[in-house]
Amino acid sequence: MNALTAVKPVTGDVPCTARGFSIAPSAQSPRLLELTFTAQVAQRFLEQVAQWPVQALEYKSFLRFKVARILDDLCGGALQPLLVKTLLDRAEGALLIGADGLDDVAQADEMVKLATAVAHLIGRSNYDAMSGQYYARFVVKNVDNSDSYLRQPHRVLELHNDGTFVEEVTDYVLMMKIDEQNMVGGNSLLLHLDDWEYLDQYFHHPLARRVMRWTAPPSKNVAKDVFHSVFDVDQQGRPVMRYIDQFVQPKDIEEGNWLSDLSDALETSKNIVSVPVPVGKFLLINNLFWLHGRDRFTPHPDLRRELMRQRGYISYATQHYQTHQ
Ligand SMILES: [Fe+2]
Repeated sequence: MNALTAVKPVTGDVPCTARGFSIAPSAQSPRLLELTFTAQVAQRFLEQVAQWPVQALEYKSFLRFKVARILDDLCGGALQPLLVKTLLDRAEGALLIGADGLDDVAQADEMVKLATAVAHLIGRSNYDAMSGQYYARFVVKNVDNSDSYLRQPHRVLELHNDGTFVEEVTDYVLMMKIDEQNMVGGNSLLLHLDDWEYLDQYFHHPLARRVMRWTAPPSKNVAKDVFHSVFDVDQQGRPVMRYIDQFVQPKDIEEGNWLSDLSDALETSKNIVSVPVPVGKFLLINNLFWLHGRDRFTPHPDLRRELMRQRGYISYATQHYQTHQ
C-alpha cells in the first residue's frame, strides 16, 4: 500500500458543492488548483470549533487533528483524499485555499483554525522556532529592521524552499494572508521544479549533490548549523530541492559562484507564476518540488501585511528525500 492507495479515492461524479467545496485549476497555472469551501461549510466549521480558542490548539496537539476531522466530516470525507492526492501529485502539488465570505466574517484566529484543520488532514505542522508555536504569524511593514528578507517589502524575496536550516522534514508549506492594508504588489511567486528551464543543467552538475552548510540568522532561533545538498531525489528518483540563497554558506569560491549562478537561473526563469493571495486565503504547496518567493510591494507609509505560515510533514508521503530514509 502506498500513499495514493491508503486513502479513499475521490469520486468524480459527486457535484463539487455536495462535497462542501469546489475545486478547479487556477487562472495562473494548471498545476495550482483553487479549492473553495462553501460559506455553509466554513460557517459550520467555525461553529463546531468555537469551543477551542487557538491557544487550546497550541497547548494540546491532538486538538489540531480533532478540528481536521471535523472539517473533513463536513465535506463528507472527500476533502482529505483530495488534499493528499493533489499535494503528492508531481504534476500539481499546489493549492490556493479559501472559503466563500470568510474574509468578511472570520477573525484572524478563525482563519488560523481553518488552515490548521487543512494542514492536519495531510500531516502535522512542525514546531516553528521563530514563534515557539506550530505556526508563526508575522507582519510586513513599510520600514523593516529585521535580519532577513522575510519582512522587507521593497525588494523581491527570492525563490526558495522552506526548512533548509532545520533537521525536520518539511514536505509542505502553508502561507495564509491574515490582513492587508495599503498594499499594491507583493504577489506570491511560485516555480514548479519541472517548469524550470535550467533544471537538467543544475541537477546534473557535480555540485548538485555536494553537502553544504546552512545556517539561520538570530531571529530564526535556530543555533545549530545543518548540512545537506541543494538537490536530492525523491523515492521515484525525481529531482527535489532544499535551497535558500540567504542561508547557504558556501565553503569556497567554486561553491559560491555555482550558487550565485543558480540563484540567477532561478530568478530569471520565464515560468515563475505570480499569484495574488486575497485576505483569508492560503497557499498550500509541496515544498520539495515547488519553490516560493514574493514580489516587491509599492512603498506606502501605512503599508501593512500580516501573514501566517505552517510547515510540516505529510503523513502519507512516500516522497521523502533519500537521505531521510
Ligand atoms: Fe519561505
